Amino acid sequence: MTDLDVVRSYAVDWSDRFHGSPTCVVRVRSRDEVVTVLERSADLGFPVVAQGGNTGLVGATMAPPGSVILNLSGLNDMVENDDGSLVAGAGCTIASVQDAASRLGKVFGLDLASRDSATVGGAFNTNAGGMYAAYWGPMRDQVTGVEAVMADGTVVSTIDGNAEAAWGVDPVAVLAGSEGTLAVVTALKLRLRAPVTETTVIMAGFDSVEAAAQMAVGVPGVMAGELLGETEMETVIERGGLARPMAPHRWYLLIEIESGSVDSLQIDGDAVVGSSLWAYRERITESIDGLGVPYKFDVVVPPARLDDLHADLSRLLAPNRLFMFGHLLRSNAHFNVVPPHREATVPDEVDQLVLDAVEKAGGSAAGEHGVGRAKAVRARDSLPPGRRDLIDALKRALDPDGRLNPGAGAAR
Ligand code: MLT
Ligand code: ZN
Repeated sequence: MTDLDVVRSYAVDWSDRFHGSPTCVVRVRSRDEVVTVLERSADLGFPVVAQGGNTGLVGATMAPPGSVILNLSGLNDMVENDDGSLVAGAGCTIASVQDAASRLGKVFGLDLASRDSATVGGAFNTNAGGMYAAYWGPMRDQVTGVEAVMADGTVVSTIDGNAEAAWGVDPVAVLAGSEGTLAVVTALKLRLRAPVTETTVIMAGFDSVEAAAQMAVGVPGVMAGELLGETEMETVIERGGLARPMAPHRWYLLIEIESGSVDSLQIDGDAVVGSSLWAYRERITESIDGLGVPYKFDVVVPPARLDDLHADLSRLLAPNRLFMFGHLLRSNAHFNVVPPHREATVPDEVDQLVLDAVEKAGGSAAGEHGVGRAKAVRARDSLPPGRRDLIDALKRALDPDGRLNPGAGAAR
Protein backbone atom coordinates (compact mmCIF):
# COMPACT_ATOMS: atom_id res chain seq x y z
CA MET A 1 0.00 0.00 0.00
CA THR A 2 1.39 3.38 -0.97
CA ASP A 3 -1.68 5.63 -0.66
CA LEU A 4 -0.48 8.43 1.60
CA ASP A 5 -3.47 8.45 3.97
CA VAL A 6 -3.42 4.67 4.34
CA VAL A 7 0.34 4.59 4.95
CA ARG A 8 -0.02 7.39 7.51
CA SER A 9 -2.62 5.38 9.45
CA TYR A 10 -0.07 2.57 9.93
CA ALA A 11 2.69 5.00 10.86
CA VAL A 12 1.12 6.50 13.95
CA ASP A 13 1.07 4.80 17.34
CA TRP A 14 -1.75 4.18 19.81
CA SER A 15 -1.10 7.36 21.80
CA ASP A 16 -0.93 9.50 18.62
CA ARG A 17 2.46 10.83 19.74
CA PHE A 18 4.82 9.08 17.33
CA HIS A 19 4.49 9.54 13.59
CA GLY A 20 6.72 7.77 11.05
CA SER A 21 7.34 8.39 7.36
CA PRO A 22 7.69 5.01 5.60
CA THR A 23 7.50 4.72 1.83
CA CYS A 24 4.87 1.99 1.92
CA VAL A 25 3.15 -0.66 3.99
CA VAL A 26 3.28 -4.33 2.98
CA ARG A 27 0.61 -6.53 4.52
CA VAL A 28 1.91 -10.09 4.33
CA ARG A 29 -0.22 -13.24 4.45
CA SER A 30 2.46 -15.92 4.81
CA ARG A 31 5.96 -16.54 6.09
CA ASP A 32 7.18 -16.92 2.52
CA GLU A 33 6.01 -13.37 1.74
CA VAL A 34 8.09 -12.17 4.71
CA VAL A 35 11.07 -14.04 3.21
CA THR A 36 10.48 -12.31 -0.14
CA VAL A 37 10.33 -8.85 1.47
CA LEU A 38 13.54 -9.45 3.42
CA GLU A 39 15.34 -10.82 0.35
CA ARG A 40 14.33 -7.69 -1.57
CA SER A 41 15.47 -5.57 1.36
CA ALA A 42 18.85 -7.34 1.27
CA ASP A 43 19.15 -6.68 -2.48
CA LEU A 44 17.95 -3.08 -2.51
CA GLY A 45 18.93 -1.95 1.01
CA PHE A 46 15.61 -0.54 2.24
CA PRO A 47 14.91 -0.77 6.01
CA VAL A 48 12.07 -2.98 7.28
CA VAL A 49 9.94 -2.13 10.32
CA ALA A 50 7.86 -5.13 11.47
CA GLN A 51 4.47 -4.25 12.91
CA GLY A 52 1.73 -6.18 14.72
CA GLY A 53 -1.46 -4.61 16.08
CA ASN A 54 0.16 -1.16 16.29
CA THR A 55 -0.64 -0.79 19.99
CA GLY A 56 2.97 -0.04 20.97
CA LEU A 57 3.74 3.06 22.99
CA VAL A 58 7.47 3.67 22.49
CA GLY A 59 7.69 4.82 18.89
CA ALA A 60 8.12 1.48 17.13
CA THR A 61 5.90 2.79 14.33
CA MET A 62 8.15 5.81 13.74
CA ALA A 63 9.42 4.14 10.60
CA PRO A 64 12.27 6.14 9.02
CA PRO A 65 11.97 7.69 5.53
CA GLY A 66 12.54 5.13 2.78
CA SER A 67 11.52 2.21 4.99
CA VAL A 68 8.83 -0.42 4.54
CA ILE A 69 6.38 -1.20 7.33
CA LEU A 70 5.88 -4.96 7.27
CA ASN A 71 2.44 -5.44 8.79
CA LEU A 72 2.12 -8.99 10.11
CA SER A 73 -1.54 -8.99 11.19
CA GLY A 74 -2.35 -11.33 8.25
CA LEU A 75 -0.21 -14.07 9.84
CA ASN A 76 -3.14 -15.20 11.96
CA ASP A 77 -3.29 -18.99 11.62
CA MET A 78 -3.42 -21.13 14.74
CA VAL A 79 -2.64 -24.84 15.13
CA GLU A 80 -3.30 -26.90 18.26
CA ASN A 81 -0.64 -29.48 19.10
CA ASP A 82 -1.07 -32.87 20.77
CA ASP A 83 1.27 -31.75 23.58
CA GLY A 84 -1.27 -29.08 24.60
CA SER A 85 0.66 -26.17 23.08
CA LEU A 86 -0.65 -23.81 20.45
CA VAL A 87 1.30 -22.54 17.44
CA ALA A 88 0.09 -19.06 16.56
CA GLY A 89 1.06 -16.79 13.69
CA ALA A 90 2.72 -13.58 14.89
CA GLY A 91 -0.36 -11.60 13.83
CA CYS A 92 -2.85 -13.49 16.04
CA THR A 93 -4.38 -11.12 18.57
CA ILE A 94 -3.98 -11.81 22.28
CA ALA A 95 -7.79 -12.13 22.52
CA SER A 96 -7.94 -14.77 19.77
CA VAL A 97 -5.27 -16.83 21.54
CA GLN A 98 -7.12 -16.47 24.85
CA ASP A 99 -10.31 -17.71 23.17
CA ALA A 100 -8.49 -20.67 21.61
CA ALA A 101 -6.93 -21.53 24.97
CA SER A 102 -10.29 -21.46 26.69
CA ARG A 103 -11.84 -23.73 24.01
CA LEU A 104 -9.07 -26.20 24.92
CA GLY A 105 -9.89 -25.88 28.63
CA LYS A 106 -6.65 -23.92 29.21
CA VAL A 107 -5.60 -20.37 29.84
CA PHE A 108 -3.06 -18.09 28.10
CA GLY A 109 -0.93 -16.35 30.72
CA LEU A 110 -0.72 -12.91 29.08
CA ASP A 111 -3.49 -10.34 29.28
CA LEU A 112 -3.48 -6.69 28.23
CA ALA A 113 -6.21 -4.05 28.00
CA SER A 114 -5.37 -3.83 24.26
CA ARG A 115 -5.98 -7.59 23.82
CA ASP A 116 -8.35 -7.17 20.85
CA SER A 117 -5.71 -5.44 18.71
CA ALA A 118 -2.32 -6.31 20.24
CA THR A 119 -0.72 -9.38 18.68
CA VAL A 120 1.35 -12.20 20.15
CA GLY A 121 4.22 -11.20 17.83
CA GLY A 122 4.19 -7.64 19.15
CA ALA A 123 3.91 -8.83 22.75
CA PHE A 124 6.91 -11.14 22.23
CA ASN A 125 8.97 -8.43 20.56
CA THR A 126 8.44 -6.08 23.51
CA ASN A 127 8.34 -8.90 26.09
CA ALA A 128 5.08 -7.37 27.35
CA GLY A 129 4.04 -7.96 30.94
CA GLY A 130 0.37 -7.03 31.27
CA MET A 131 -2.00 -7.73 34.12
CA TYR A 132 -0.89 -11.21 35.23
CA ALA A 133 2.89 -11.03 34.77
CA ALA A 134 3.52 -11.32 38.52
CA TYR A 135 1.79 -14.73 38.40
CA TRP A 136 2.36 -16.25 34.95
CA GLY A 137 5.46 -14.24 33.99
CA PRO A 138 5.90 -11.85 31.04
CA MET A 139 5.38 -12.91 27.40
CA ARG A 140 8.78 -14.62 27.18
CA ASP A 141 7.52 -17.14 29.75
CA GLN A 142 4.52 -18.02 27.58
CA VAL A 143 6.69 -18.98 24.60
CA THR A 144 8.48 -22.31 24.06
CA GLY A 145 9.37 -21.97 20.38
CA VAL A 146 9.79 -19.29 17.74
CA GLU A 147 9.88 -19.07 13.96
CA ALA A 148 11.65 -16.03 12.53
CA VAL A 149 13.02 -14.73 9.25
CA MET A 150 16.54 -13.35 9.51
CA ALA A 151 17.75 -10.18 7.75
CA ASP A 152 19.01 -12.17 4.71
CA GLY A 153 15.73 -14.09 4.34
CA THR A 154 16.87 -17.29 6.08
CA VAL A 155 14.20 -19.00 8.21
CA VAL A 156 15.04 -20.11 11.76
CA SER A 157 12.53 -22.21 13.67
CA THR A 158 12.35 -23.98 17.02
CA ILE A 159 8.64 -24.63 16.72
CA ASP A 160 8.86 -28.29 15.68
CA GLY A 161 10.47 -30.81 17.96
CA ASN A 162 10.54 -31.33 21.65
CA ALA A 163 10.06 -28.18 23.71
CA GLU A 164 12.09 -29.69 26.55
CA ALA A 165 15.13 -30.43 24.38
CA ALA A 166 18.06 -28.24 25.43
CA TRP A 167 20.27 -27.37 22.46
CA GLY A 168 22.16 -24.50 24.05
CA VAL A 169 21.53 -20.93 22.94
CA ASP A 170 17.76 -20.57 22.62
CA PRO A 171 16.35 -18.34 19.84
CA VAL A 172 13.34 -17.62 22.11
CA ALA A 173 15.66 -16.06 24.68
CA VAL A 174 17.64 -14.16 22.03
CA LEU A 175 14.60 -12.70 20.25
CA ALA A 176 12.23 -11.94 23.19
CA GLY A 177 12.17 -8.17 23.66
CA SER A 178 14.35 -7.54 20.58
CA GLU A 179 11.70 -5.29 18.97
CA GLY A 180 12.20 -6.49 15.41
CA THR A 181 15.84 -5.37 15.41
CA LEU A 182 17.39 -8.87 15.07
CA ALA A 183 14.85 -10.80 12.97
CA VAL A 184 11.19 -10.72 11.94
CA VAL A 185 9.21 -13.12 14.15
CA THR A 186 6.54 -14.92 12.13
CA ALA A 187 5.12 -17.55 14.53
CA LEU A 188 5.29 -18.64 18.16
CA LYS A 189 4.74 -21.87 20.01
CA LEU A 190 2.76 -20.88 23.08
CA ARG A 191 2.61 -22.52 26.47
CA LEU A 192 -0.97 -22.81 27.72
CA ARG A 193 -1.71 -23.23 31.44
CA ALA A 194 -4.24 -25.10 33.50
CA PRO A 195 -6.81 -22.49 34.54
CA VAL A 196 -7.15 -21.35 38.14
CA THR A 197 -10.59 -22.67 39.01
CA GLU A 198 -11.91 -19.78 41.07
CA THR A 199 -10.60 -16.27 41.58
CA THR A 200 -11.82 -13.27 43.57
CA VAL A 201 -11.41 -9.66 42.48
CA ILE A 202 -11.11 -7.07 45.23
CA MET A 203 -10.58 -3.32 45.10
CA ALA A 204 -9.20 -1.77 48.28
CA GLY A 205 -8.61 1.92 49.09
CA PHE A 206 -5.40 3.33 50.64
CA ASP A 207 -3.79 6.61 51.72
CA SER A 208 -0.43 5.70 50.21
CA VAL A 209 1.05 3.52 47.47
CA GLU A 210 3.34 1.99 50.04
CA ALA A 211 0.37 0.75 52.11
CA ALA A 212 -1.21 -0.68 48.93
CA ALA A 213 1.97 -2.57 48.09
CA GLN A 214 2.28 -3.92 51.63
CA MET A 215 -1.15 -5.51 51.38
CA ALA A 216 -0.46 -7.61 48.28
CA VAL A 217 3.25 -8.07 47.65
CA GLY A 218 4.40 -11.57 48.55
CA VAL A 219 0.92 -12.84 49.48
CA PRO A 220 0.44 -16.38 48.10
CA GLY A 221 -2.20 -16.81 45.42
CA VAL A 222 -2.25 -13.14 44.34
CA MET A 223 -2.45 -13.15 40.53
CA ALA A 224 -2.69 -9.43 39.81
CA GLY A 225 -2.16 -6.25 41.82
CA GLU A 226 -2.96 -3.16 39.78
CA LEU A 227 -2.60 0.39 41.08
CA LEU A 228 -4.68 3.42 40.22
CA GLY A 229 -5.22 6.72 42.01
CA GLU A 230 -8.20 8.96 42.62
CA THR A 231 -7.21 11.10 39.59
CA GLU A 232 -7.40 8.02 37.35
CA MET A 233 -10.62 6.84 39.05
CA GLU A 234 -12.33 10.21 38.50
CA THR A 235 -11.28 10.25 34.84
CA VAL A 236 -12.51 6.72 34.16
CA ILE A 237 -15.84 7.44 35.91
CA GLU A 238 -16.32 10.71 34.04
CA ARG A 239 -15.20 9.58 30.59
CA GLY A 240 -16.21 5.92 30.76
CA GLY A 241 -19.64 6.56 32.29
CA LEU A 242 -19.00 4.09 35.12
CA ALA A 243 -20.53 4.40 38.61
CA ARG A 244 -18.18 5.11 41.52
CA PRO A 245 -17.41 1.67 43.00
CA MET A 246 -16.48 2.77 46.53
CA ALA A 247 -15.87 5.86 48.70
CA PRO A 248 -13.04 8.08 47.37
CA HIS A 249 -9.48 7.17 48.42
CA ARG A 250 -6.10 8.57 47.47
CA TRP A 251 -5.04 5.23 45.90
CA TYR A 252 -6.75 1.99 44.95
CA LEU A 253 -5.34 -1.49 44.48
CA LEU A 254 -7.22 -3.94 42.29
CA ILE A 255 -6.32 -7.45 43.36
CA GLU A 256 -7.19 -10.75 41.71
CA ILE A 257 -6.44 -13.70 43.96
CA GLU A 258 -7.09 -17.44 43.95
CA SER A 259 -10.31 -17.69 45.94
CA GLY A 260 -8.78 -20.30 48.25
CA SER A 261 -6.15 -17.74 49.34
CA VAL A 262 -8.41 -14.77 50.08
CA ASP A 263 -7.97 -15.30 53.82
CA SER A 264 -4.24 -14.60 53.51
CA LEU A 265 -5.04 -11.00 52.53
CA GLN A 266 -5.14 -8.56 55.42
CA ILE A 267 -7.80 -6.03 54.50
CA ASP A 268 -7.87 -3.31 57.18
CA GLY A 269 -9.76 -0.57 55.37
CA ASP A 270 -12.43 -0.05 52.78
CA ALA A 271 -12.81 -2.74 50.05
CA VAL A 272 -15.31 -3.98 47.48
CA VAL A 273 -15.52 -7.26 45.56
CA GLY A 274 -16.50 -8.19 41.97
CA SER A 275 -14.92 -9.05 38.65
CA SER A 276 -16.52 -6.00 36.97
CA LEU A 277 -14.02 -3.87 38.96
CA TRP A 278 -11.43 -4.66 36.27
CA ALA A 279 -13.14 -2.06 34.05
CA TYR A 280 -11.82 0.78 36.25
CA ARG A 281 -8.27 -0.32 35.58
CA GLU A 282 -8.65 -1.38 31.96
CA ARG A 283 -10.29 1.82 30.77
CA ILE A 284 -7.62 4.19 32.09
CA THR A 285 -5.61 4.44 28.85
CA GLU A 286 -8.59 5.16 26.58
CA SER A 287 -10.03 7.65 29.11
CA ILE A 288 -6.74 9.56 29.34
CA ASP A 289 -6.30 9.61 25.55
CA GLY A 290 -9.51 11.64 25.26
CA LEU A 291 -7.93 14.47 27.29
CA GLY A 292 -5.14 15.26 24.82
CA VAL A 293 -2.02 13.55 23.49
CA PRO A 294 -0.32 12.06 26.56
CA TYR A 295 3.43 11.84 27.06
CA LYS A 296 3.78 8.28 28.30
CA PHE A 297 6.39 6.84 30.62
CA ASP A 298 6.69 3.19 31.54
CA VAL A 299 9.16 2.82 34.38
CA VAL A 300 10.23 0.46 37.13
CA VAL A 301 10.39 2.06 40.58
CA PRO A 302 10.46 0.47 44.07
CA PRO A 303 6.86 0.90 45.38
CA ALA A 304 8.13 2.48 48.62
CA ARG A 305 9.52 5.40 46.55
CA LEU A 306 6.40 6.03 44.46
CA ASP A 307 4.53 8.28 46.93
CA ASP A 308 7.35 10.84 47.08
CA LEU A 309 8.13 10.55 43.39
CA HIS A 310 4.50 11.13 42.45
CA ALA A 311 4.26 14.18 44.74
CA ASP A 312 7.50 15.69 43.38
CA LEU A 313 6.59 15.08 39.75
CA SER A 314 3.03 16.45 40.13
CA ARG A 315 4.57 19.70 41.38
CA LEU A 316 7.33 19.87 38.77
CA LEU A 317 5.07 19.03 35.83
CA ALA A 318 2.25 21.53 36.59
CA PRO A 319 0.24 22.87 34.79
CA ASN A 320 0.41 19.51 32.95
CA ARG A 321 -1.50 16.77 34.74
CA LEU A 322 0.19 13.63 36.00
CA PHE A 323 -1.57 10.25 35.92
CA MET A 324 0.03 7.27 37.62
CA PHE A 325 -1.15 3.66 37.44
CA GLY A 326 0.31 0.26 36.67
CA HIS A 327 1.44 -3.16 37.67
CA LEU A 328 2.40 -2.60 41.31
CA LEU A 329 3.37 -6.21 42.03
CA ARG A 330 6.13 -5.86 39.41
CA SER A 331 7.10 -2.33 40.53
CA ASN A 332 6.06 -1.29 37.01
CA ALA A 333 4.46 2.16 36.98
CA HIS A 334 2.94 4.04 34.04
CA PHE A 335 3.21 7.83 34.25
CA ASN A 336 1.10 9.66 31.70
CA VAL A 337 1.66 13.42 31.45
CA VAL A 338 -1.37 15.11 29.94
CA PRO A 339 -1.50 18.72 28.70
CA PRO A 340 -3.67 21.23 30.60
CA HIS A 341 -6.13 21.33 27.70
CA ARG A 342 -6.81 19.18 24.63
CA GLU A 343 -5.07 21.32 22.05
CA ALA A 344 -1.92 21.92 24.11
CA THR A 345 1.24 19.83 23.76
CA VAL A 346 3.36 18.42 26.55
CA PRO A 347 6.91 19.74 25.94
CA ASP A 348 9.65 17.20 25.14
CA GLU A 349 11.68 18.49 28.11
CA VAL A 350 9.45 16.46 30.44
CA ASP A 351 11.31 13.39 29.20
CA GLN A 352 14.54 14.27 30.94
CA LEU A 353 12.78 15.71 33.97
CA VAL A 354 10.71 12.57 34.64
CA LEU A 355 13.37 9.99 33.81
CA ASP A 356 16.06 11.75 35.85
CA ALA A 357 13.66 11.78 38.82
CA VAL A 358 12.88 8.09 38.25
CA GLU A 359 16.56 7.16 38.22
CA LYS A 360 17.19 9.29 41.33
CA ALA A 361 14.43 7.30 43.06
CA GLY A 362 16.31 4.07 42.30
CA GLY A 363 14.20 3.23 39.26
CA SER A 364 14.78 2.31 35.60
CA ALA A 365 13.46 4.14 32.55
CA ALA A 366 12.26 1.04 30.67
CA GLY A 367 9.43 -1.26 31.78
CA GLU A 368 7.12 -3.59 29.90
CA HIS A 369 6.56 -1.30 26.88
CA GLY A 370 10.12 -1.81 25.71
CA VAL A 371 12.77 0.61 24.45
CA GLY A 372 11.53 1.42 20.94
CA ARG A 373 12.74 4.75 19.61
CA ALA A 374 11.43 6.74 22.57
CA LYS A 375 14.03 5.35 24.98
CA ALA A 376 16.79 4.30 22.61
CA VAL A 377 19.27 6.99 23.72
CA ARG A 378 18.42 6.66 27.41
CA ALA A 379 18.77 2.85 27.21
CA ARG A 380 22.19 3.21 25.64
CA ASP A 381 23.32 5.63 28.35
CA SER A 382 21.85 3.56 31.20
CA LEU A 383 23.12 0.11 30.26
CA PRO A 384 26.44 -1.07 31.70
CA PRO A 385 29.15 -1.28 28.98
CA GLY A 386 29.32 -5.09 28.95
CA ARG A 387 25.63 -5.46 28.24
CA ARG A 388 25.75 -2.71 25.62
CA ASP A 389 28.63 -4.51 23.86
CA LEU A 390 26.64 -7.75 23.86
CA ILE A 391 23.61 -6.05 22.30
CA ASP A 392 25.81 -4.35 19.68
CA ALA A 393 27.58 -7.62 18.85
CA LEU A 394 24.25 -9.42 18.36
CA LYS A 395 22.98 -6.65 16.11
CA ARG A 396 26.17 -6.66 14.01
CA ALA A 397 26.05 -10.45 13.66
CA LEU A 398 22.35 -10.80 12.80
CA ASP A 399 21.69 -7.56 10.93
CA PRO A 400 25.07 -6.36 9.64
CA ASP A 401 23.54 -3.76 7.27
CA GLY A 402 21.26 -2.33 9.99
CA ARG A 403 18.07 -2.81 7.93
CA LEU A 404 15.83 -4.22 10.69
CA ASN A 405 13.90 -1.52 12.57
CA PRO A 406 16.82 0.95 12.52
CA GLY A 407 16.82 3.44 15.38
CA ALA A 408 14.82 1.20 17.72
CA GLY A 409 16.32 -0.50 20.78
CA ALA A 410 19.66 0.09 22.42
CA ALA A 411 21.97 -1.39 19.76
CA ARG A 412 23.99 0.84 17.44
C1 MLT B 1 -1.52 -0.54 30.72
O1 MLT B 1 -0.98 -1.17 31.62
O2 MLT B 1 -2.69 -0.15 30.80
C2 MLT B 1 -0.74 -0.30 29.47
O3 MLT B 1 0.58 -0.63 29.57
C3 MLT B 1 -1.06 0.92 28.71
C4 MLT B 1 -0.57 2.27 29.12
O4 MLT B 1 0.46 2.48 29.74
O5 MLT B 1 -1.23 3.23 28.72
ZN1 ZN C 1 1.00 -1.73 31.40
